[in-house]
Amino acid sequence: MRVRGQDYRSLWLDEDGLGVVIIDQTALPHSFETRRLTSLDDAVTAIADMWVRGAPLIGAAAAYGVALAMQADDSDAALHEACERLVAARPTAVNLAWAVEEMHRLLSPLIPIERAPAAYAAAAALADEDVAINAAIGDHGLELIRAIAATKPGQTLNIMTHCNAGWLATVDWGTATAPIYKAHEEGIALHVWVSETRPRNQGASLTAWEMNEHGVPHTLIVDNSAGHLMQLGQVDLIIVGTDRTTACGDVCNKIGTYLKALAAHDNGVPFYVAAPSPSIDFTMQSGREIPIETRSAREVTHMAGRTDAGAMESVRISPEGTAALNYGFDVTPARLVSGLITERGVVAATAEALAAAFPERLAL
Ligand code: MRU
Repeated sequence: MRVRGQDYRSLWLDEDGLGVVIIDQTALPHSFETRRLTSLDDAVTAIADMWVRGAPLIGAAAAYGVALAMQADDSDAALHEACERLVAARPTAVNLAWAVEEMHRLLSPLIPIERAPAAYAAAAALADEDVAINAAIGDHGLELIRAIAATKPGQTLNIMTHCNAGWLATVDWGTATAPIYKAHEEGIALHVWVSETRPRNQGASLTAWEMNEHGVPHTLIVDNSAGHLMQLGQVDLIIVGTDRTTACGDVCNKIGTYLKALAAHDNGVPFYVAAPSPSIDFTMQSGREIPIETRSAREVTHMAGRTDAGAMESVRISPEGTAALNYGFDVTPARLVSGLITERGVVAATAEALAAAFPERLAL
């Protein structure tokens, strides 16, 4: 997608064919900076410290992390260690484990000398596949947007999203944002409610930045405004992403998604989840089985931002000594989900519909 008019992906292979370049998402929206990852340690840090984040992107970054590890040491032990460390970097998004398992399955039967080139090729293929999947989600979601827009002739369609399920969270296009970008390009009048998404504010810092770069009309809201806006009839459609959707259609996504789904249900607002198949975990039935990441209390007790003088600062917002709890994700039960926008079309959030759409995944 575009940054100051130039096309970018959120990570790419450097010119030397060895280093992996990422956009440092901790610097956005204040400055656009790239970093070069050259080792397994770099890849693990980039994922754990959220220089890269978003379920599909951490999957792609982990795949390249395996390639970086194999470049340094292509032994069985190194492959095993790389896979273990990468999977442990963040527990909730299944894309990470999925990508690492794919890499391990492919590389372990090879003789060591073949591993590094095979790993780079596989990581590149996985990144390209992510782009294709998201583009397809965009096409199916566009049909949905067209249908809802047709019920409001001459009026602007208000779409709400949560966190950042944009192109920064994927290799390109985004999941929840792919239909939005396609509808915007098609000339459908739309406006996006961007909820800030405390505590790390990926909505305020990343989704708002993306929308700005693309000229998509949008308004930033505090998370607590979402229900009120729905009661006012100001939300026509909600599209969010997912870190892990179970075989029965329970959706784990950024903390606060469940509250939006509840309010949507109460107000008759369609609540859709953009769910690429690598984010669907067919080994889990219930959302209660999903490991929920807890992060540092400091993300809750402090806020970071840029002062008017241009300095980056972190400030405490709660009393010293007050404990803070920081769950990163929550689970929206399938019954609150209007549909899953997958690369194979819009699928009901039920075991039957998911099994019919992805029969080959059931056999695994
Ligand atoms: O903690 P993050 O920023 O990695 O969480 C991101 C989300 O929850 C996204 O909604 C999800 O990963 C889907 S991204 C297409």
